[in-house]
Amino acid sequence: MDTVYLNGNYMPMSEARISPMDRGFLFGDGIYEVVPSYDGRMVGFVPHMERMQQGLDAIEVKLNIDQAEWRGIADELIQRNGGGNLGLYFHVSRGADVRRNHAYPEDIPPTVYAFAFQIPPAPIADKAAATPFKVSTAEDLRWRRCNIKSTALLGNVMHYQQGHAAGNGETILYNAAGELTEASACNVYVIKNGTVITPPLDHQKLPGITRLILLALLSRDGSIPVEERTVTLDELRNADEVWLTSSSKEIAPVVSIDGEPVGDGNIGDVWLAAQAIYSAGKFDF
Ligand code: PDD
Repeated sequence: MDTVYLNGNYMPMSEARISPMDRGFLFGDGIYEVVPSYDGRMVGFVPHMERMQQGLDAIEVKLNIDQAEWRGIADELIQRNGGGNLGLYFHVSRGADVRRNHAYPEDIPPTVYAFAFQIPPAPIADKAAATPFKVSTAEDLRWRRCNIKSTALLGNVMHYQQGHAAGNGETILYNAAGELTEASACNVYVIKNGTVITPPLDHQKLPGITRLILLALLSRDGSIPVEERTVTLDELRNADEVWLTSSSKEIAPVVSIDGEPVGDGNIGDVWLAAQAIYSAGKFDF
């Protein structure tokens, strides 16, 4: 897990160096992606790269790396890091300036960094093998551009830490109107009477690629109804099941919220069916 990519070169992580004047370091001025890969097969590579391009466009960073070149970097990192179950992290910052200035500098090359890290084996549709999640809740105090996958993650980090400090594995967030947004590093779903309900995409949440794939697969399968609509904190507390999704977790069942059980406190049957559909179809994306 040692070879990384930095600005066109592969090297041991211990030898990778960037300038302390890098705007990623000074301002969190950058965009990132995390793509899961199992035995050399990536899940959602194309939509992940499309989302990264949208983020770079949103912050006006011009980068001369196309999707084919990104794929080459991904394949090389998978190979050089032994394959298996890997998360591939891609990071583009605006680059290193000679002074600290809030305005976007012109004509500095972006800093491009990528590395691979171990992730757990792909989840399978088996309640006994699943990792049940306990979560906290908190009012979402992040900024109003959460649809951009920015490397400036302090808001997310602080919200994650709230849950962690309470002995939980995530923090589900709601806005001032008591409507769910997402979690600190996952999208969120409630299940009521067999229907999967998830908040619609807007500037308050990241358009998750796992969410995109899950909703596409559920629609293609047709056996589980899905609604994209506003979900309230009350609905969260009264749900039969609650799930989180992210690239490395896939569909994570939540069994406890702020110390109270979700439904009967066990992993639910809709999760089982949805994870089976996801496992069977995820490599189509
Ligand atoms: N987190 N919402 C937020 C705030 C996230 O940070 C993430 C992903 C998601 C889920 O997106 P996806 O399904 O594309 O992974 C939703 C990544 C994995 C991370 O920061 O490590």
